[in-house]
Amino acid sequence: MDRLRIRGGQPLQGSVRVAGAKNAALKMLAAGLLTTDELALSNVPMLADITTMGRLLAGMGVKVARDRDTVTVRSDGLHSTEASYDLVKTMRASIVVLGPLLARAGSARVSLPGGCAIGARPVDQHLKGLQALGAQIRIEHGYIVADLGSNRRLRGARIVTDLVTVTGTENLMMAATLADGQTVIENAAREPEVADLAACLNRMGARIRGAGTDRIAIEGVDRLHGAQYRVMPDRIETGSFLVAAAITGGDVRLEGAAPATLDAVLDKLREAGAEIQAGEDWIRLRMVGRPRAVNLRTAPYPAFPTDMQAQFMALGCVADGVGAIVETIFENRFMHVLELQRLGADIGIDGNTAIVRGVARLSGARVMATDLRASASLVIAGLVADGETWVDRIYHLDRGYERMEQRLTQLGARIERVGSTPA
Ligand code: UD1
Repeated sequence: MDRLRIRGGQPLQGSVRVAGAKNAALKMLAAGLLTTDELALSNVPMLADITTMGRLLAGMGVKVARDRDTVTVRSDGLHSTEASYDLVKTMRASIVVLGPLLARAGSARVSLPGGCAIGARPVDQHLKGLQALGAQIRIEHGYIVADLGSNRRLRGARIVTDLVTVTGTENLMMAATLADGQTVIENAAREPEVADLAACLNRMGARIRGAGTDRIAIEGVDRLHGAQYRVMPDRIETGSFLVAAAITGGDVRLEGAAPATLDAVLDKLREAGAEIQAGEDWIRLRMVGRPRAVNLRTAPYPAFPTDMQAQFMALGCVADGVGAIVETIFENRFMHVLELQRLGADIGIDGNTAIVRGVARLSGARVMATDLRASASLVIAGLVADGETWVDRIYHLDRGYERMEQRLTQLGARIERVGSTPA
């Protein structure tokens, strides 16, 4: 199994291009189920999760082809509406095929995702919303079995979600594009990926207004058609590179980024002492000296993203002072703490709050990635730790970061992928 070997202490310098957003591309691939025409997506990152979604769709008879950063999907040959446990358990985001399958084919059988490393993550809001749109849903043998009963189509409805859910909002928005009449989703997630998905769907002929706000209105149409769409830049990848630059006292420019989607992250980096310049599609970060400790609290967009919490904790580990990190989205998202402690970090946990006391230096050790963003935090910590850090189980990292070690090497980091167990 692959692992990463990092020799810390090198400030990152230079420029790197940001990849397309995993969390937008995955949903757009599922949106390909909504039409029999071809959907061509460019700026699709090369990631294990994208491959998994491709396999899931291919298993249903969808033609999926990749040519460099463009992925085309064509679902005129759809012959199955089932998403198996084997695939869903490896990638929870598979749940986003549920809404499109129901809207397009009138039925779906999608495995319940079950638990995951970062918390319980139920899908009750997805199901409640689809029921409001007229779907009949039952749980059978671990699967969500949904159909339209005696109805021909889903029916537009007003849906108020109990909490803000990103994939829930996306599932309902996609389902509603082909419903009869108007759907309004209140308390919708405002994440930029939701707005990007809506823009892609509108390009396919959908009539969606308000995506990016907490009230999305969808006027159902009879059919969607093919389209070409360029996926937005990945804001979490961008943020991860910025933290890596900051922790090493580096000077890095990110190209092809979307600074406007990163306000909360850039604010916290500035508070930590980074100098940041940004244009329309680039960001430059320069850090001189030791970072300052910052407090932060994760919350739905536009507040600080839970997907950047672990990386900021790594930064806090070597900061000057004490910072409190409050995680309000997922109940079990401090799995990286025990691993960061193996590198010498001083972190205490009380419920959903981590108190991070900065130490002068971290020391390299063998650590284990537990989930996607936790992996990134360990790599980031390894970049400043004394000596060698070995990060094990990096298949988590490969789910969400395209050739992370090669791109960090390009910035001067001493990091390599190694295939065997160290002695
Ligand atoms: C998405 C992102 C993930 C990010 C998360 C929060 C994708 C593929 N993943 O995950 O990277 O960390 O948003 O920004 O886009 N909840 C319920 N019932 C539901 C749905 C959610 O109780 O039906 C809860 C969850 O357990 C969690 C919270 O709501 O506590 C937010 O989850 P949600 O926004 O749905 O996360 P995902 O869409 O799974």
